[in-house]
Amino acid sequence: MISKVTSPRRLYGRVKPPGDKSISHRASLLNSIATGISHVSNFCVGDDRSSMLGCLKGLGANITRHTDCKISGSQECFEIVGAGLHGLSEPTDVLNAGNSGTTMRLISGLLAGQDFFSVITGDESLRNRPMKRITDPLTQMGAKINGRNNDSLAPLSFTGHTLKGIEYTMPVASAQLKSCLIIAGLYSSTPNLIHQPAESRDHTERMLNSMGGLLEIDGLTIKTDSKELKSVDVKVPSDTSGSAFWLIAAACHPDAKITIPGMGMNPTRTGVLEILESMNANISIENEHLEGGEPTADVTVSSSDLIATEISGEVIPRVVDELPILALAACYATGTTIISDAEELRVKESDRISATVDSLNRLGAKIEETKDGMKITGTHSLTGAEVETHGDHRIAMTNGIAGLLASGETTVGNSEDASVSYPSFWEVIKELQE
Ligand code: S3P
Repeated sequence: MISKVTSPRRLYGRVKPPGDKSISHRASLLNSIATGISHVSNFCVGDDRSSMLGCLKGLGANITRHTDCKISGSQECFEIVGAGLHGLSEPTDVLNAGNSGTTMRLISGLLAGQDFFSVITGDESLRNRPMKRITDPLTQMGAKINGRNNDSLAPLSFTGHTLKGIEYTMPVASAQLKSCLIIAGLYSSTPNLIHQPAESRDHTERMLNSMGGLLEIDGLTIKTDSKELKSVDVKVPSDTSGSAFWLIAAACHPDAKITIPGMGMNPTRTGVLEILESMNANISIENEHLEGGEPTADVTVSSSDLIATEISGEVIPRVVDELPILALAACYATGTTIISDAEELRVKESDRISATVDSLNRLGAKIEETKDGMKITGTHSLTGAEVETHGDHRIAMTNGIAGLLASGETTVGNSEDASVSYPSFWEVIKELQE
């Protein structure tokens, strides 16, 4: 699909992005191995949702989609009948995580502790993403794993084995790795002690706590132990990462105001708001409240005189998915923005450093690629051009927002890639242009 976008004179509206992908994934996985019946509403949409639910169903999880759900009072919810920690069954076919790194890494933590054989694979992008970061510590815990390229690439196979706890210092601040180890820890005979180099999203920890799991957090160290979990109902907040696209569109457009109601405000995800604040963005936050242990709020951003900033260090894992769209914001800021310490971007759904630089370069930005980030000098203008998604949903959406800001027409090839996390993205773009 090809999407053509031009800049509207005004950009006003309320946008409700899909439910948070990270929270939806954890809610479905953990409730599938808990005891009891749960209802998860405002579940994420898109291909990644199908990947996670497909893997769980392949393991015998009992998950039913209801429309017009009486219990959660929402249009759609998923009813999950928990199988208990040891109630899953051997999949009769290869599990497919599609494009979803979170699905592959979290499900691997689960598979490592099962007493049956399983294989998990993914699409071409996922089969080239690094898995050694999970297979190494899982193997130390006693898991029997085989994979391509010395167990570093999917497909990965798991042969049932009992696990023991380890003390492990994570080499990267990755929520997927941390969550994989926490989930495997549910199947260990002794506690797991995990040291993180920096904080990353903590949805797994919050959800396990609300399910009665055994988890102690001391600064950057997490101790987990095995215990049956109790099912919990979850009303998933709007995806913080999906919201960031619209908030940044509003900050950069000269006549704009966009509100996101019920946006996820977990502090391990709101690095993007902290950075926008440091760039002088006009942000207002109202109606702050907790939704099933996760903070949410209505967030409004309006046209702003942005200034350049430096994005590096501990904030990087807390904005890892927002760096491409923040690079676009930097094009509309006065001064030079430097993004560094972000080499993880090179091993996402695409090499997001070179993909972002490629798109913004084509649109006439002053942007340079560095080893671990980007250097962007704001010019306050971009010119429509033909851009590509590099097979990556976040690059597809960054291109779409660039089209809302650039002069002339921006043509996005393979724009359907946005549907990995946000299938209605192009419809919202169209509505905002009317
Ligand atoms: C995710 C963690 C992040 C993020 C991804 C979702 C998760 O990756 O990029 O889109 O749900 O755990 P890291 O493993 O780099 O933190």
